[in-house]
Amino acid sequence: MCGIVGYIGHRDAYPVIIKGLQRLEYRGYDSAGITLYDGENIHLAKTKGKVEDLKNKAEASIPIKGKLGLGHTRWATHGVPNDVNSHPHYSNSGDLVIIHNGIIENYESIKQALIKRGYTFESDTDTEVLINLIEEVKKKEGVKLGKAVQIALNQVVGAYAIAVFDKNKPDEIVVAKLGSPLAIGIGENEYFIASDASPFIEFTNNAVYLEDEEMAIVRIGKEIKLRKIKDDAIAYPNILELQLNLEEIEKGGYDHFMLKEIYEQPKAILDTYRGRLLADKGIIKMSGIDQNLEKFLNANRIIIVACGTSWHAGLVAEYIFEDMARIPVEVEYASEFRYRNPVITENDVLIAISQSGETADTLAAIKLAKEKGAFVFGVCNVVGSSIARETYAGAYTHAGPEIGVASTKAFTTQITVLTLIALKLAQEKGTLSQSKYHEYLAELEAVPAKVEKALLSNTLVEEISETYKDSPNCLYLGRGYNFPVALEGALKLKEISYIHAEGYPAAEMKHGPIALIDEQMPVVVIATKKGHYEKVVSNIQEIKSRKGRIIAIVTEGDETVKELADHVIEVPETSESLSPLLTTIPLQLLSYHIAVMRGCNVDQPRNLAKSVTVE
Ligand code: F6R
Repeated sequence: MCGIVGYIGHRDAYPVIIKGLQRLEYRGYDSAGITLYDGENIHLAKTKGKVEDLKNKAEASIPIKGKLGLGHTRWATHGVPNDVNSHPHYSNSGDLVIIHNGIIENYESIKQALIKRGYTFESDTDTEVLINLIEEVKKKEGVKLGKAVQIALNQVVGAYAIAVFDKNKPDEIVVAKLGSPLAIGIGENEYFIASDASPFIEFTNNAVYLEDEEMAIVRIGKEIKLRKIKDDAIAYPNILELQLNLEEIEKGGYDHFMLKEIYEQPKAILDTYRGRLLADKGIIKMSGIDQNLEKFLNANRIIIVACGTSWHAGLVAEYIFEDMARIPVEVEYASEFRYRNPVITENDVLIAISQSGETADTLAAIKLAKEKGAFVFGVCNVVGSSIARETYAGAYTHAGPEIGVASTKAFTTQITVLTLIALKLAQEKGTLSQSKYHEYLAELEAVPAKVEKALLSNTLVEEISETYKDSPNCLYLGRGYNFPVALEGALKLKEISYIHAEGYPAAEMKHGPIALIDEQMPVVVIATKKGHYEKVVSNIQEIKSRKGRIIAIVTEGDETVKELADHVIEVPETSESLSPLLTTIPLQLLSYHIAVMRGCNVDQPRNLAKSVTVE
């Protein structure tokens, strides 16, 4: 969950690394550091805080020159976030430098063994242990840096993406990967190293993504040499041409990435079904499904694994798959599923949903399902990510880079992909009437324009936010397809505004949460016309009689709820199954405005990171 950046070549490394770290800050922002080699010496600046703090510190304290450097932005695992625990770390001799994303699980025993050999440690980190292990191997075995890294990595247990250099051999950087992502950008006589391609996108479109258990030596004037860490076998780099562009990873006039990404949803949803949904022909084309149709049609059940917001998309998908395609679905937190000895058979299809494609628990759940013979399918946003590679087939969401830590467009595009899959399977199985099927296709095509309309509620939502910005608690209620939306609304609010919020199925309110309701309690209720409307109206009445403050999300033109609620926010009419794509929009805006009004860091909420590559 940290971000790493390295550069070796003919440019000044400092601006490349600082800008790169700023782009990777979504991966962790507890602390940051940079090392530069100026042609004679190495210089180090590290600090608790953000990359901006690092920039100020580096510019005031070290010569910011040199054509070789490593930088790191950290989400703390071992050791509190402070200057000393920040990366890069040096070996005891001061010659070797490392940056690391991941966790070395057996670091304590290695540390004790190194201490016995006279090594000392400044920080509490596993990473400082690793660089000293590399140094010890290098000295003891009399080998070059690449070999020393390889031998050391064969002794560690855990996950890593590392970059290491030796100040006595400043023409090369050694990199290696297991479990955490690592991309190498290939320029003319220069190399970039990063956790994803965003730090180098303006310099080169050519990149190699290391596979797990691979390492590489990048050396000026030489082609990349790839090897398997375990058995030293030569691996051949698969050089990809990247599609990413700079605009997609910049704020484009919005105050925050989150707001930009909320507003990108009409386009993101359109991009997700573009070329797949041919509504006039009544066809859905998805190669990942087409090529594995029998697996889906013969599946006893579909198991969906995911975490956080992606898990909420999975819950919506449960309703969609069961309703449309009549396939039993179980939705599991990946972190629970993988540890509870689940029953998995060869006739199960497991769908893993992940924006980043790097979430460690989801990845582990995939590996477990594969071992048990299930067919494993991925729904990811990040192209070439670990989950995309680990699954047998998949469908990308095509939402474009999501940089705000709170997931928004990933959620709606995940639901879009899963709806396409469910409709396709329903058509193959004949579980939907032709008229219903065509109706859904047409409705799906109409969604981007309706999301556009739902976004017009922004000013009203901002006004409502003003009223509730100081509430300590908030309850979210929904039924059916909109129960997961209530969970998602609550998650959005708590993660970026730090207000305690809970999501519940509206009917469950009577079984406990109703005790919380008084005149201080804002209750957000999703009360759209299609699906359990009367029941939700009854729930609203129950809240009203206990003096709760009701913010209702309703279908355009609704008059009944207007009479009961303190505030109503309208969204366009659509079928119940597609309504989450619209009802979620005002909830995203509500959490956004409340967080801004409370002075919270919307794009980088405390303690969180965008891609959770630790378990
Ligand atoms: C919430 C959020 C997280 C992620 C979760 C899974 O806004 O962003 O809950 O949804 O960490 O991440 P992915 O989808 O990358 O596997």
